[in-house]
Order: sequence, then C-alpha cells, then structure tokens
Amino acid sequence: MIKKLALSAIVLASSLYASSEVNVYSHRHYDTDKKLFKMFEEKTGIKVNVVKAKASALIKRMESEGAKSPADVLITVDAGRLYQAKSKDLLQSINSNYLTTNIPATLRDKDNKWFALTKRSRVAVYRIGSGMDSKLSTYEGLADPKFKGQIMVRSSNNIYNQSLMAAMIAHHGKEYALNWAKAVVANMAKAPKGNDRYQVKAVANGIGSVAIANTYYIGKMVHNKDASQRESVKKVKIFFPKFENGGTHINVSGAGVAKYAPNKDNAIKFVEFLASKEAQELFAQANYEYPVLAGVKSSELVSSWGQFKDDTISINTLGENNKAAVKVFDQAGWK
Ligand code: FE2
Repeated sequence: MIKKLALSAIVLASSLYASSEVNVYSHRHYDTDKKLFKMFEEKTGIKVNVVKAKASALIKRMESEGAKSPADVLITVDAGRLYQAKSKDLLQSINSNYLTTNIPATLRDKDNKWFALTKRSRVAVYRIGSGMDSKLSTYEGLADPKFKGQIMVRSSNNIYNQSLMAAMIAHHGKEYALNWAKAVVANMAKAPKGNDRYQVKAVANGIGSVAIANTYYIGKMVHNKDASQRESVKKVKIFFPKFENGGTHINVSGAGVAKYAPNKDNAIKFVEFLASKEAQELFAQANYEYPVLAGVKSSELVSSWGQFKDDTISINTLGENNKAAVKVFDQAGWK
C-alpha cells in the first residue's frame, strides 16, 4: 500500500513537472532570447511559452485579459514601458532575495514590480573624419549651433528618445529641456525618420555627421548579413556623451511578474534565471548589451567602444517623467 502510494505520488509529481510552464509576453526580438529560454527549459523542465509583440500591444492585451490573463512575465526593452505596465497595475511585487541582492536599486522598480536585465546606453555616433569628435561633449552640448545641420535622430514618438528627454528633465527641469529640444531640432540634418540604424547609415553616407543611437545597434551592424550595414558602420565611431552633472544616459530592458500570473513561482524562477551569471553572460556576449550583474564582463566588441560612467538618475525616473517628456517634444516641434 505504502509502495503504491509512493509510486502514485511520483507519477503525480512527474506529470505536474511535465505540465509546468511559464507564459512570457515579450517585446525582445533577439535570437539570444530563444537560446536563453531553451537553457531555462533544460535546466528546470519548465516549458517557456512566448507571445512576441510590441510592448504597447502586450500591455493592451494584458489590460483586456484582466484577471484571466495567462501572462506570467512581461519583458520590455525600455524602462518607460515597464513603468507604464506598473502604473496600469499589470505587475505584482515579488519577493526575491536573489534579485534584490544582485540588481542595484537604481536598476529595479522601487516596489520590486520589475527588474532590469540588460543595460544599453544612448550615445552619439559620428562619422570618422568629420571632426565631430573634438566638438562632442555633453548631451546638453548637442544644442550648440556648432552642430547646425549635423544631427540625425529618430522621431520623438520613440520611447528611447522619450527616456533620454525624461533624463534631461530630471537633470534640468522642463523649461531647460524645452529650449534644449528646440535647439536640437534646429541642428537636425533632416526631419526625423527611420530607426536608430537608419540614422547611423545616414551619417556614414554624409547626411549629417552625428547620429543618436543605442549602443547595441552598432554591434548588430558590425555583425550583419547585409553588407551595406557592415560597410556603413566601418565609417563611424561611438562617442559617450554625459550629462553635465551626471553620466551617460542608460536605459534597460527588463522583466516583471504579471499581476494575475497563473504560474507565479515559475515566473519568479524565470526572472531569476535571466539575471543569473550564465544568462547574463549570454546577454552580454550575444546581443552587445551591458550586463546588470556585477562581475559579468561585456563582450570584446562592446568593451572596445570604451568605458563610461552610468548616469546617476534612477531608471524609475525615466518612467515617471515620460508624460512630461512627450509634452516637451510636442512643444519643441520635434516630429
Ligand atoms: Fe532596440
């Protein structure tokens, strides 16, 4: 009898184990992530089901699904979107000693509703030989008329720009930020169009001399199937601007556990795994991002771009100032 009970307990446990899963809503669109999810499945036996879409669509979906949402984890590529998900009450506070010990307070939500997984900096990319390296200094300095007709930057409806503006507001206030934005608009080589890589390509081809872009796009262009991207990126170099009283603007991709997560324990395990040494090494090696875990090195290519000091502003502030940032862009006429 005891034997029989023990056997059925094993059968039950293994069937539970086999059916255990975690449902991930992700905005990240990188091959690295597929590898990471597979690693997690092999390690834990927990199946990872992924729904991929833009963060705004995923957030809308979670809102309409409400308490019946199958989502366990939301992954986005910008702090502003994580903040938005939190403000819409779509995430829950989690208790993870590992995450609070290993992810610095400036890189996680103050209520532990989301955690950064990778860092990226938003930098100036200039054409070699344009003489811009001696002119570039701070983000504030991009407003200087010496950059007239030189700046290539994407539209203000992009969240990366909104977060940069949110940081500018945090450093100097809205009025200063508005004047700065107006001056940058006046310095643009062309009206905003295209993504970060488009700006880098334009600068490489002599349209303007300074592009604003996220660092990892440079890595992606270096190792690209498309020869025109590989050729363009040979003609440019990264400059790490900083804020006058801070460091280089960084943004994060991160994850939070959904408020109604049906597999909450698996969700926490999954986020902890993404912040583990092995996952962080893969993030750093394969996607040209900066790891958030201390002691994990950046890839050789990323390290070759040089060192910088992270800005002092907490990532929480980027979300808090998002609305104000959008307003400033509108007032400044930054398309
Ligand atoms: Fe991106």
